[in-house]
Amino acid sequence: MEDDVVLDRGGAPVAERRELPHDFVWGVSTSSYQIEGATDVDGRGPSVWDAYCRVPGHIANGDTGDLACDHYHRYAEDISLMRKLRVHAYRFSVAWPRVLPKGRGASNEAGLAFYDRLIDGLLAAGIEPWLCLYHWDLPQALQEEGGWLNRDIAGWYGDYAELVARRYGDRIRRFATFNEPSVFSLFGYGFAWHPPGLVDPVALNRAIHHVNLAHGRGVDVLRAHVPRSSIGAIHNVQPSRAAGPRSAADVAAAKLLDAYWNRAFPEPQLLGRYPEELARLVEPHMQAGDLDRICRPIDWFGVNHYSPIYAKAASEAVLGFAWADAPADVPRSPIGWQVDPIAFRDTLLDVWRRYRLPIYVTENGAGANESPDGAGEVVDHERVRYLKTYISALRDAVAAGADVRGYFVWSLLDNFEWGAGYANRFGLVYIDYPSQRRIPKESAHWYARMIRAEALRGLG
Ligand code: FCB
Repeated sequence: MEDDVVLDRGGAPVAERRELPHDFVWGVSTSSYQIEGATDVDGRGPSVWDAYCRVPGHIANGDTGDLACDHYHRYAEDISLMRKLRVHAYRFSVAWPRVLPKGRGASNEAGLAFYDRLIDGLLAAGIEPWLCLYHWDLPQALQEEGGWLNRDIAGWYGDYAELVARRYGDRIRRFATFNEPSVFSLFGYGFAWHPPGLVDPVALNRAIHHVNLAHGRGVDVLRAHVPRSSIGAIHNVQPSRAAGPRSAADVAAAKLLDAYWNRAFPEPQLLGRYPEELARLVEPHMQAGDLDRICRPIDWFGVNHYSPIYAKAASEAVLGFAWADAPADVPRSPIGWQVDPIAFRDTLLDVWRRYRLPIYVTENGAGANESPDGAGEVVDHERVRYLKTYISALRDAVAAGADVRGYFVWSLLDNFEWGAGYANRFGLVYIDYPSQRRIPKESAHWYARMIRAEALRGLG
């Protein structure tokens, strides 16, 4: 049986085992643009990421999602891998432009049929599909009509949600409206790191509000068309810290980043109000009744979590703050992200206290730049250690009262990691991109053993 690594208050690891609910969900996550490839196959329309990747300088090494993991053609092999992992659930996203090539209007039967095959294959393997409607690949045709800046997008998104609900609602219960809305809004409209590549605070606040309206519309549509649905929204939540904790200006910067990053979506969606730092900024984009349209009852809160974030005051920056690095001496993953499991535990407790919804950790994992060793194996001890300490922190949060019901590793496969291209690998399974060969890493074997040990404990 696997021992957990537990951090005592002084940070020293001690072996200990604390129980999780017997029906705790162990899963893995992916997203459409990051793994599917087949971007111009079977009638798929272009997404904003296809366009964005074409611009030199946007993505490391000029990488694109054109081929990615070729999951569109290799999904059956990927389901077999998940089966070997013994995961209970798989979170994936539907590519909006694959099922609606122009974003609205005529649907694409070949694209819809792909997700039928995927869902049926998962169910046959005993793996529950968790479907996320939006993991950032907006149809380019909608971008050309203003994208998230056009208020009509809430209706376009609602129609897309209805298509998905009608098609798959007989087989899928678990739906998420959006993945990490704060990342694609802040990076796309505040920092020009994602499409549409703007640095424009007015556009940012407008986009935030329209994403929230679309969320509310999506919840209503899913509820109406899938009677047994369990609906959630996925937010990245991590502590926002001041680069100079003794500087009042940096503390204010961290608070503003916290509002944009952690609260701009959950608060209106679940508490029916915008964070006080943002209310005045969003006001010009609101119409009467909007907060009621946004704040619709949902069933669970998806937490994506990696590392704390840091901000510093920057009077020249349009938002008045800039991102800052973690202190030099903190522990880091191989790609330099801070490793801080205590922050994970505290985040879970904080989300539970604020929103009182069952929590599923829909993403957590570690990035590296690894390659197979001489024997052809990928021995990723650091990822295993990361997962052990973070799962242990999750157990601490549960022991302290947080209602956490599941954990999904990011990611099943190495994949297209946005601006970093293929350089950063997060998979439990290594992808040899030239051959598309899949090699389960040490972490995959460890995760399978851990899930098995948990199942045996449940039986005993
Ligand atoms: C999250 C994204 C996911 C992946 C991980 C590493 O912010 O949701 O697509 O890129 O980070």
